[in-house]
Amino acid sequence: VTSDTPTDSAALRDYTEGYLGEDEVLTSARRRGTQLGCAAVGAATGATLQFLATVLRAKAVVEIGTGVGVSGLYLLRGMARDGVLTSIDVDPEHQNAAKRAFADAGFGPGRARLIMGRALDVLPRLTDEAYDLLFVDAAKSEYLSYHQQGARLLRPGGVIAFDNVWSGRAAEVARAVREDDRLTPVMWPIGDGLLAAAKVG
Ligand SMILES: C[S@@+](CC[C@H](N)C(=O)[O-])C[C@H]1O[C@@H](n2cnc3c(N)ncnc32)[C@H](O)[C@@H]1O
Repeated sequence: VTSDTPTDSAALRDYTEGYLGEDEVLTSARRRGTQLGCAAVGAATGATLQFLATVLRAKAVVEIGTGVGVSGLYLLRGMARDGVLTSIDVDPEHQNAAKRAFADAGFGPGRARLIMGRALDVLPRLTDEAYDLLFVDAAKSEYLSYHQQGARLLRPGGVIAFDNVWSGRAAEVARAVREDDRLTPVMWPIGDGLLAAAKVG
């Protein structure tokens, strides 16, 4: 701790969110999100996703809730160079914005498989234990089902991360994940609560 390090919680939050800063690609994607009414992940959540993708050397990632591509940019930046991000969203306008953000960042079309549809229709079609990392940021009322599908899709040692677990409708997933013997969880005070869990085995 130095004399510059903030100590009250609001200042600490600002310090954490602003620690790394964001480039023009991310800033533009965020701007499009604001125009479309889509709440993208914060910078600290994004940095955590990039960190997880890096340490897992992730080649296969599933994202539930593409939005405008802010979280996807962070994931792609952490993943292996030949990794593929499978990202699901019901909203075509959001996915088009994400496609543009990925292209702006220099990621070729082969790096992102964007699937338009309802998550609970798409997830059952994905292969068991084939994914290194899953990121959940779609319908809060469906988080318990994403948890069940996600645990099936992860390879042993893979990680599932849920955004906004402090918000009312998503809060019950925190209890369900804690009671799931297949998973080793940790909750981080980032954004509206970021819950991550590694698959045992
Ligand atoms: C908070 S936004 C995601 C933001 C994104 N992670 C980002 O950082 O840019 C939530 C997204 O989930 C999508 N969504 C909501 N319900 C869904 C569902 N049942 N299946 C798939 N996508 C859904 C919305 O269309 C929206 O784009």
